[in-house]
Amino acid sequence: MPSTIAIDGPSASGKSTLGGLLAEHLGYIYFDTGVMYRAVTWEAIRRGIPIEDEPALTRLAQEIVIDVTRPTAADGRQYSVFINGEDVTWDLRRDEVDKAVSPVSAYPGVRAALTQQQRRIGQGGHIVMVGRDIGTVVLPEAELKLYLTASLEERARRRYLEKLQRGEQVTYEEVLETLRRRDEIDSSRAVAPLRPADDAIIIDTENLGVQEVFQCVLEIIHDPEH
Ligand code: DC
Repeated sequence: MPSTIAIDGPSASGKSTLGGLLAEHLGYIYFDTGVMYRAVTWEAIRRGIPIEDEPALTRLAQEIVIDVTRPTAADGRQYSVFINGEDVTWDLRRDEVDKAVSPVSAYPGVRAALTQQQRRIGQGGHIVMVGRDIGTVVLPEAELKLYLTASLEERARRRYLEKLQRGEQVTYEEVLETLRRRDEIDSSRAVAPLRPADDAIIIDTENLGVQEVFQCVLEIIHDPEH
């Protein structure tokens, strides 16, 4: 059984849903690294630090104390996130954060600070770690690397439905446009761009439901050939 599992892929490709299910099934820690980039972004917005101010964002990433714990409320969350002790779990999903997080995550200093913490957490094993660069940069030694994909339109549809369910006021077109921009920035940045590791197993989730993706991964995990 792989002890360290890396799941990468573009926004809304189904990484967190799969990661959560898999971690629960195996009794592993589930760690969604995107929340760290979101936490730095949200704290900058809240403090009025301009997103373009790279040195200030880098300092913030070095200073901020981000804690991720088991859910502390039964409101549909997969985990709770605290910044300097304050619960910001749902703030991290705001549209303002969605729009600003990709530029923030492209800053090399921000990545260096957060990658270091992620490596420390990941090296303990028994973990499912989800992100963009887990298989390539954060945990290149991971025993199982999965890379999820789906078309931009399908991913926008999923993300739009999620936001509707949470009562957010957005249109499908807005969600599509935000995703398109994030894809572009995440894949073209200089440091740790979004791409599958050479030894990653690529799963196209376009026409697959959550359970189908999960079953497919269980088969991979239990395949002694792997
Ligand atoms: O998975 P997410 O949507 O919560 O990620 C938010 C942003 O953080 C995403 O646009 C890219 C960035 N990110 C990253 O660069 N590296 C990671 N390991 C995780 C997220």
